[in-house]
Parts: sequence; structure tokens; C-alpha cells
Amino acid sequence: MYYPDELVEEVRSRNDIVDVISGYVKLQKKGNSYFGLCPFHNEKSPSFSVSRQKQMYYCFGCGAGGNVFTFLMEYENFTFVEALKALADRAGVELPEQDVSAEAKEKFRKKAVLLEINKEAAKYFYAQLKTPRGERAYTYLKNRKLDDETITSFGLGYAGKQSSDLYQYLRAKGYGEEQIREAGLINVSEKYGAYDKFNNRVMFPIMDANQRVIGFGGRVMGDGEPKYLNSPETPVFDKSRNLYGLHRARTSRRPYFLLCEGYMDVIALHQAGFSNAVASLGTSLTSGHVSLMKRYVREVYLTYDSDGAGTKAALRAIPLLREAGIGAKVIRMEPYKDPDEFIKNLGAEAFEERISQAKNGFLFTLEMLERDYDMDSPEGRTEFMRETARRLTEFDEEIERNNYIEAVAGVYHTGVEELGRLVAKTAVQRGLARPARRPAQAEKKDRGKENGRVKSQRILLTWLIEDASVFHQVRKYIEPSDFEEGLYRTVAQLLYEQYESGAVNPAQIMNHFTDEEEHREAAALFHTRIRDLESPREQEKALRETLIKVKEYSLEDAARNLDPADIKGLQHLMEAKRSVQDLRKLHISVN
Ligand code: CTP
Ligand code: MN
Repeated sequence: MYYPDELVEEVRSRNDIVDVISGYVKLQKKGNSYFGLCPFHNEKSPSFSVSRQKQMYYCFGCGAGGNVFTFLMEYENFTFVEALKALADRAGVELPEQDVSAEAKEKFRKKAVLLEINKEAAKYFYAQLKTPRGERAYTYLKNRKLDDETITSFGLGYAGKQSSDLYQYLRAKGYGEEQIREAGLINVSEKYGAYDKFNNRVMFPIMDANQRVIGFGGRVMGDGEPKYLNSPETPVFDKSRNLYGLHRARTSRRPYFLLCEGYMDVIALHQAGFSNAVASLGTSLTSGHVSLMKRYVREVYLTYDSDGAGTKAALRAIPLLREAGIGAKVIRMEPYKDPDEFIKNLGAEAFEERISQAKNGFLFTLEMLERDYDMDSPEGRTEFMRETARRLTEFDEEIERNNYIEAVAGVYHTGVEELGRLVAKTAVQRGLARPARRPAQAEKKDRGKENGRVKSQRILLTWLIEDASVFHQVRKYIEPSDFEEGLYRTVAQLLYEQYESGAVNPAQIMNHFTDEEEHREAAALFHTRIRDLESPREQEKALRETLIKVKEYSLEDAARNLDPADIKGLQHLMEAKRSVQDLRKLHISVN
């Protein structure tokens, strides 16, 4: 979706950053800035600062920073467009309807209707729970130790015994049979016509990250088959891309999720204060779930059932998470079946203790692997260590691999060196080490160079942002086109324009980066501190060197792309190369 820059800027400028952040964080004025406890990391003394003048925030503790959009993106885990919409709402700015194809419009409209129907159904079920007819369901939930606040906040309800209550109710609200069927709430048979899918069950509405009801799970009270009945997949309910409890877990302040199996596990955990619990609802974890979680956390604690199926599910989930760069840990529920029963019997404190004892995913995998070997015999142990070595070869990064070798050696009482050699030997045998070596090194060198280049561009940009006098001294030598295409060049272009028009406005520049990753990267540019330690002389030297590097890289590129027949271009390049010589002698003064 695209919104014009002026509109984005209007929304930004009508939402004063101090006012907005004050709604989330208690701020105190100190000098020109406001300070508070950083909401993005745990701290006891305030290092989170907000500047009204710059309309930016920055945490000296963890480096989080950006403009008012960034804040909502980080705090609420919004996308840029979601942040824009929320702030437009807050300031009463009307956003135009987007131009979309008729087909897309129709699809969107249809989805909106399905969401509406689901919402109506959820309200209906919830209301039923509080009627005499729903008394048994209410008692059931109470017996499962849920309090009223929990029942309300998860919107739990009851689907009655009559075969088409909900259907009639929704028809009376004006929805058509086909729409209700598409929402997955009824079945239609030739013999009986339309009848409710859920009968005499306790109902769990499933919400997406934005609190919209997208489907339901219904549990029988007591025994009966199936124990849970769930909505089918519909245009608004994609089981492999939604997690139960996410609408609350996304704003939890813990930096990891507790991933469990069932509805009741999530609810019991939230009630006990673990508001970071989510569940994949009986379906096995998919890459869709994983990338969804990656929007919010970098670590996941698996809190699966303690039975064989739960263990198997954990063993499957660990590599899936690792591939996505999410660290996995495993929490054991023994002697109880699942988190719900654990909490009911031992309480929150004991669960907190289990969290602190969570086992690293890889070590957990090995522990389970032990079961396949006779660990009491030398042969069995040797075979086990061979398999372990094979698995250790799968860590590509040397440091990580060595750390694991050390950890494994510690757990299984073998020498670090011996195990290291076994891993190296296994890698050679498997044909990993040899052929991998050369290209891996070449690649590293390239990357090193790339990094040097990016780094000098970043430092220079940050300098230009911070110090107007530096900008005016170097603008003769450096143009936006000297920065590599993409984020840096865009920032440079905008910055040059702003300097021309007399006022640098970092918060406005931030508007241009609507992709989350880019937005964060751009925010970092405005906060990198380059000048903390060095004397002005050292700084001047560093600045000159950075300038030369950026120019040289840029000329290298130009030379590579030059058409040999382009005489003018060649001349231009020669001149530019000479000017690099001038740069070496240039005296720049920094403030
Ligand atoms: N599940 C399902 N259909 C079933 C059984 C289970 O969809 N017939 C899903 C549900 O989402 C359930 C999860 O798998 O929450 C875990 O199942 P299970 O461990 O059997 O149930 P619990 O969550 O422990 O449910 P309860 O505590 O209510 O018995
Ligand atoms: Mn259970």
C-alpha cells in the first residue's frame, strides 16, 4: 500500500512524539529531553530519552530508537501501515481509500463479512455462557480453575444444544446461508438443511494478532469425541499462519514466547501471569508459524506436553526454529501432562523455575537421542558420540560449533579436544570440510570488503546528520550518488535536500522507510555515536579517511561500469580520482 509522503509527514507531525510515548512510558523532563524506563529492555534507571525538538527517541541502554512510527512498530509490533493508521486515527487525519482492483476489493469485502460473522458468533457464544442454558459450560470452566476475568479476556463462550441456534441468529442479523457456511459455522446437508457445526460445547474464539476473531475451537464438556472441534480453514482462517494467544502475547514484555500445544495451556499460563504464551493448536509447527513468531521474538521456549507426541513435536520444532534464526529451549512438564495441569498443581512460581531450568534445544535433542543407544556400554557410548559429532558438523559457524562442542563435552564428560577432532574427522568423511573450505573463505573475504564499504558509508552519513558544519565542508566532494543504491542513498538524498532548504528533520526522513527492517536500519543511522572517545584531531583524521574510502569505493564502481567508448565519462573519472588526492590534504574541522 502506498501513501503520499506529504500525508505520512502530516500524520507524523500531528502526533507529537512526547505525547504519544507518554501514553506508554512515564517520562520526566531533564534539560531538553524527556527520560523514562526503556520499554524495550529491562532496566532500573532510566536511559530511554525522547526529544521533542528532534521528534525522535533513543535508548542509551539498548540502542532502540526512531521516530513516532518506529515507536509504535516496536512497541505494538505494528507494520508501518498499521502504525500509520493508528496515528492517523489518533490525530484525526483521514487516510484515503486505496486504489485497488475490483477483484481485490471483492475479496477484501468478502473477508470483512466473514470477520463480521465470526465476531457476531463470538458475541453470541459469550452471551450464552451467562444464560441458564450455559450454566453447565460456565461451571465446567470454573472447575478448570478459570476466573471471570480470564473467561472475559479470552472471550470464552458456549454453543447450545439446539441444532441451529446460531444459524437462526445470524440469519436474523441479515447474513446469508452461503456466507455463514463459508465462515465455517454451519454444515449443510440435503436431508437436514443448514445446522450448526458446534453443539453443546465450550467455545474458544481464535483471534489473529489484531484481535479479530478468525475461527473457533469447541470442547466437549467431559468425555466425548472429538474432544475438540475446530473451524475449518476459511479465507480468514489459515491454521498454519496463526497462533492462539498471539493477540495478547505480542505485547508481552518478555523477550521470548512460550509455545505450547493447546487452548487451555495458553489460557492457564496467561492467567498465571505468563502473558507470552501461544499455541499452534494441535497442528504441527509450520514455517508460517515460525516466521510469524520471528516478527516478535528471537527465542522460543517449547512447552509441549510431556508425552511421546509432545517430545516428538519438540524434536521437530527445534531445527525448524533454528533454521529461522530463533533459539529454541525446552521446558519439561513432568510429572504433569501439560502446562495447564502443571500450573494447577504447582503454581506460577514453580513454572517460573522450570523456565529458568529450560534446556537448550540441541542438548535436549541429544538427551532424547541417548534413548536409542546403550549408554552403559563403551560401544553404545562411542556410537552415540559419533552420531553427536555428525550433528555437530551441522553448525556452519565455527564459533557456534565450538561452543556446542564445549557444552557437549561438558555434559558427556569427554575431552573438548577429542570431541573437536572427532567432529573435524566426521566433517571430512562426510565431504563437508574440504570442498566447503575455499569458497567459504572467498565468500568471507568478499563480505568483509562489503562490510568495510557499508560501514564507511554509514559512518559518513551519521556524521553528516549530526554535524551541519561537516556537511558544508564535505558537500563539494561527496554526492548522494556516492552512496550505494537503496537505503543509504535515499537517506543521503533526503538529507541533502533538507540541508539545502535549511532544516534537518530526521523524523521526516524516517517516514520514507516503510519496511520494518529498513526502518530500523535507518533509525540506527540517526543514533550511531561516533565521537564519544576520540579527540578532535583523531576525529578529523577518521573523518578524512572515511571520506576517502567512500569516494574510492564509489569511483571503483564507476570505473567498473564505465563504457570504454565513453571518453567524457573517462575524463570525468580521472578528474574525480585527482580530487581524491585533494581530499587527502583536506583539513576538516569538527565541532
Ligand atoms: N486438538 C484438536 N482436536 C482434538 C484434540 C486436540 O484440535 N480432537 C488440539 C486442540 O487445540 C488442543 C490441542 O490439540 O488444545 C492439544 O490437545 P490435548 O493435549 O489433547 O488437549 P488439551 O489442550 O490438554 O485439552 P484439555 O486440557 O482441555 O483436555
Ligand atoms: Mn490439558
